[in-house]
Amino acid sequence: MSILVDNVGELVTNDEGDGLLGVRTDMAVAIEGDRIAWVGPKAQAPAADQRIDARGQAVLPGFVDSHAHLVFAGDRAAEFGARMAGKPYTGGGIRTTVAATRAAGDDELLRNAGRLVAEARRQGTTTIEIKSGYGLTVADEARSLRLARELSGETTFLGAHVVPAGTDPGEYVDLVRGEMLAACAPYAKWVDVFCDRGAFDEEQTRAILTAGKQLGLGLRVHANQLVEGPGVRLAVELGAASADHCTHLSSADVDALADSETVATLLPGAEFSTRSPYPDARRLIEAGVTVALATDCNPGSSYTSSMPFCIALAVRDMRMTPAEAVHAATVGGARALRRDDIGHLRVGARADLTVLDAPSYLHLAYRPGVPLVSKVLHNGVLS
Ligand code: NIG
Ligand code: FE
Repeated sequence: MSILVDNVGELVTNDEGDGLLGVRTDMAVAIEGDRIAWVGPKAQAPAADQRIDARGQAVLPGFVDSHAHLVFAGDRAAEFGARMAGKPYTGGGIRTTVAATRAAGDDELLRNAGRLVAEARRQGTTTIEIKSGYGLTVADEARSLRLARELSGETTFLGAHVVPAGTDPGEYVDLVRGEMLAACAPYAKWVDVFCDRGAFDEEQTRAILTAGKQLGLGLRVHANQLVEGPGVRLAVELGAASADHCTHLSSADVDALADSETVATLLPGAEFSTRSPYPDARRLIEAGVTVALATDCNPGSSYTSSMPFCIALAVRDMRMTPAEAVHAATVGGARALRRDDIGHLRVGARADLTVLDAPSYLHLAYRPGVPLVSKVLHNGVLS
């Protein structure tokens, strides 16, 4: 089955073309099966079984959301309301979602996560990472990852989200890096730890990440969200694919990231929804750090599935240019997942494309809150 996406006014290739985004105009893209087969001027477009007319509008690689927590039950709207009335965010509400998640059946959890994946897809996301972290028992974490696996190949074991209520922290760390990790590893590609005030410290984080690495999992770290701390430094030292949040960074943290293969994944939805100061993306980019943007979609600190919303926040409040933000939301996310088959539109890439109802990628930040995604192709299939 071949498809021609024709009459593309502005094509963001993240490959050859103008500027950071490799922008080309008056283009067409041919797809064979689930791959990009041809990219070129529309006047030279090959024949195909099906034609999608982009009507002179912009086409981008599908967004890569490399950080989301989608397996949970219930919501925390009341906590959000209290926060907007002045109560600070501490991460303590995670335990509320843990109780609701444990009480829910598999069907309810899968339905809720599936609803969020579909919501993200409608907004142009074609790859979404999904973490566990609201089970916090061996059975509930393994179940969360088994369900996540039905929706994404990018699954992350986050048993070390917080220490469950009434549990000794030392015993919990031993459980996470022992029996829980062993039960979860078959369903997970990654292991993550919330290394921050009120969650896990340097020694505990190191122990859990090292155990995960020994089982062949890639590493990610929730680092420096609430306070400056050891998270970013550890992520770099242990070769993590990504240090996520990066809100409170020392100069040494920025230098360490710049000299490493570790991506800084910024999650402006969390700062928006916790009314906190945003990370300084400009400082990271100028130091040479690879930056990704992701939603952090979760019921506590960032209940948005919208990459366009995060792009708009990044441009307005994190001093990124629109091109940098779109780059971070596509190639940046792909790098944070150590993938080179997504995030760009080179021949051979996965056929993941977003057709906008706007003439340029600039409109994603220029027209915040407006549903500009008109069509999404995922693995060569219109969804
Ligand atoms: O990435 N910071 C830790 N975990 C999530 C929040 C989870 C929650 O509040 O339920 C985050 O922001
Ligand atoms: Fe998170």
